[in-house]
Amino acid sequence: MNGSTLQRSFHFVVAVSLVGLCLSSPLWSQNSSAPPILLGTAWYPEQWPEAQWESDLSLMEKAGVRMVRVGEFAWSRMEPSEGHYDLDWLDRAVAAAGKHGIYAVLGTPTAAPPAWLTQKYPETLRVDKEGHRAEHGNRQQFNWANPKYRELARKIAEQMAKRFGRNSLVLGWQIDNEYAEVSFDPETRSQFQQWLKARYGTLDSLNVRWTTAYWSQTYSSWDQVPIETDYGNPGLLLSWQRFVSDTWRSYQKNQLDVIRANSDPRQFITTNMMGWFDGYDHYTVAQDLDLAAWDDYVGQGHLDPARNGATHDLTRGFKQKNFWVMETQPGSVNWAPINNSLDKGEVRAMAWHDVGHGADAVSYWQWRSALNGQEEYHGTLVGADSTPVPLYSEVQQIGQEFARAGSVLAGTSPRSEVAILHSYDSRWAIQWQKHNKDYDPVEELISYYRPLRAISQSIDVLPPTARLERYKLVVAPGLNVFSESTAKNLAEYVQQGGHLVLGQRSGMKDDDNGLQPARQPGPLVELLGGRVEQYYALADPVPVAGKFGSAQGKQWAELLSAKADDVEVLARYGKSNGWLDGQPAAITRRVGRGRITYIGAWLDDAAMAAAAKWMSEVSGVKPALGPVPDGIEVYPRYGENREVYVIVSFAKREETVTLPAAMVDVLAGGTKQTVSLPRYGVAVLSSTH
Ligand code: GAL
Repeated sequence: MNGSTLQRSFHFVVAVSLVGLCLSSPLWSQNSSAPPILLGTAWYPEQWPEAQWESDLSLMEKAGVRMVRVGEFAWSRMEPSEGHYDLDWLDRAVAAAGKHGIYAVLGTPTAAPPAWLTQKYPETLRVDKEGHRAEHGNRQQFNWANPKYRELARKIAEQMAKRFGRNSLVLGWQIDNEYAEVSFDPETRSQFQQWLKARYGTLDSLNVRWTTAYWSQTYSSWDQVPIETDYGNPGLLLSWQRFVSDTWRSYQKNQLDVIRANSDPRQFITTNMMGWFDGYDHYTVAQDLDLAAWDDYVGQGHLDPARNGATHDLTRGFKQKNFWVMETQPGSVNWAPINNSLDKGEVRAMAWHDVGHGADAVSYWQWRSALNGQEEYHGTLVGADSTPVPLYSEVQQIGQEFARAGSVLAGTSPRSEVAILHSYDSRWAIQWQKHNKDYDPVEELISYYRPLRAISQSIDVLPPTARLERYKLVVAPGLNVFSESTAKNLAEYVQQGGHLVLGQRSGMKDDDNGLQPARQPGPLVELLGGRVEQYYALADPVPVAGKFGSAQGKQWAELLSAKADDVEVLARYGKSNGWLDGQPAAITRRVGRGRITYIGAWLDDAAMAAAAKWMSEVSGVKPALGPVPDGIEVYPRYGENREVYVIVSFAKREETVTLPAAMVDVLAGGTKQTVSLPRYGVAVLSSTH
C-alpha cells in the first residue's frame, strides 16, 4: 500500500467508523441521563439491614458513584422457595439508589443457586472429571448444560426482567457471573456427542478429520466418543472446547432471550469476563451481547500498564467497541499469594488507564465486606463499620474527575493503526502440545504488544477473521490454527496492501487441530515465498543477529528458508545446534503494495523493540500523540469532532510531555502546550471543548 492510498483508505475507514460512532452512542445514555463515564461499585443490599442502605448510598453519592451492580448472587433472597419470588426488596434498593442519582446494573443470580434448588434437583450440580458432584456452600456449583438448571435460571431471569425491564433506573443486565466451571456428567457427554454429530455429519468425516486411525481411535458409534481435556486426540480436545464455548453461549442465550423479550431495548445485556481466561472462546460467547465487560484485578504486585492494557484491548475486541470494567480492586484483593495494596495514587492511575483503553465504566468490587462469607479480607471502599477507608477519598477524586471529563469523552473510542490477532483455538492448540514446557502463547502475544504499543500508543486485539483493511500493520503471534477463512482473510489483507507479520508457531494447524499438509505457514507459504523448514524447542537461548540487532532467541526457533528471489532475510541464527547456524530466523517479502513477514524466533526485549520499530517504519505507523518520555502512557480516544488524549504517568520521576499542539486540559483547566506529571499523575487533554 503506498502512502497516499493508505492515507485515503485510512481516512475513509475513519470516516465510516465515526459515522458508526455517532449512530451507536452507548445504549445506557440513550435511556437515561446517566453519565457517559461511570464510576460504580458492587453493592449487596440483601446482606444488610434496610435501615443501613440510606447511609451507604449517601456515602456513595459523595464519592461520585453513579452505578451499583446488584443482585448477582442473591437468588435465595429473590426466590426463597421454588416459584415464590420476592423482588420487592430489590425494587426498593434500586429506587433508593435512584434518589441519590445512582443507576443500577442488575446481575442475574445464577452463579449461586439456592440450597433448596440443588437439594431438590441434584442433577443441576456439576460433576468434575473424577466424577464427584459439587455441593452447596460455595458458588458456581451448577451444571451449565443441565436442562433443569436452565429452566430454573430462565424463570428467575424472566421474573427480574418483567419487574425491572422498563425501569429507567436500570441501565442494563449482567448475566450470571464469570462463566468458568463445566461439568463432565453422562448427560453432558451425550450432548457433546450430539454436538459432534451436528458438526461433522458422519462418523467417517470425523474419523478422517481427526485421523482416528492413529492408535485405533476409530469410532463406529457416536456414543463411543469420550470427553478429553488434556492429552487426547487434538481434534477431540479442540472439539470439546468448542462445545464448551457453544454451551456457554446457549446457557447465556437462555437468559438473554427472556430478558430481551421483557425489557426496554435500551437496557444493555452483558456478562463479566475474565481477561485472558481461556475456559471458553469469548468471541463465540460475546456475539450475543450488547457490550463486553471484564473484571480487572491486579492481584499481587502493581499495575503493569502494557499487560493490563493488552487485556483491555482484548476485551474491547470482543465487540469492537467500548467496554466496561465491571469489577476492579479497591486497593487489594483477598486471593493472591500476597494481597498487597496498590500504592496511593495507583488506583486513580489505573482507573484512567482503563478509560484510556476504552472503558466507559469502572466499578469497584466491593463497597463493603460482608460480615461473614468467604471474602472478608478483600479491599473495599468502606469498612465493616460503614465509614470510609483511606482509599475512599482517592475514589472520590476519580468520581469528580469522571464527572468533569464525561462530556468530553462522550462518544469517543480508541482507534488504532495496528492490530494484533488472537485466537482461542491457537492458544489451546499450543497449550496442549507446548513442546517446550515454558511456552506461553499469551506471553508471546504480549512480547509483541509491549513494544508495538509503546510506538503506536494504541492497539486493537482482534480475532483472525476480523476485517483488517483499516490497519497499516497486522501482527499474528502464535496463530497456530489457520482455518480456511483465516488464511483467506490474511492473504487478502496482504494483497490489498497491508503488512502482515506472522510470529513463531503460525500456520501449523488446520481447523480440526490437525497438521496443515504444507509446512508453516501452511496456506500462506506461496505468498511468503519461504517457509519453516524445521522448528526446534530450545533448552538454551540461541543467538540471532540482523536488522533487529544482536539478540538471544528463547524457547523456540524456526529455521526458515527463502525460496523466492525477492524474499529478504531480516535476521539469521548464530552458532547454536548446527542445524540453525547461519540460517534465516526472520524473512520479509513485498507483495504488490503489501508485505508479509515471518519471525521464527522468540526475540529478547531489545530485539523485539527493534523489530517493532522496523515493522512500524515499513508500515507507516506513527505514535498517536508523538513521542513521549519512557513511563508515560498515552491513550487516544477519538470522537466526531475531537481527539481526547488520556495521559497517565507510570514513570519513577516527574516527566514533561510536549504536545504537538495546544490542547484543553480537561481536569486542571486552561490550555496547555506541555504537561508535567508526577508518578501516577493523570491528564486528560482535548483538541476542543
Ligand atoms: C471476582 C468475582 C467477585 C469477587 C471478586 C473478588 O472474580 O466476580 O464476586 O469474588 O472476584 O476479587
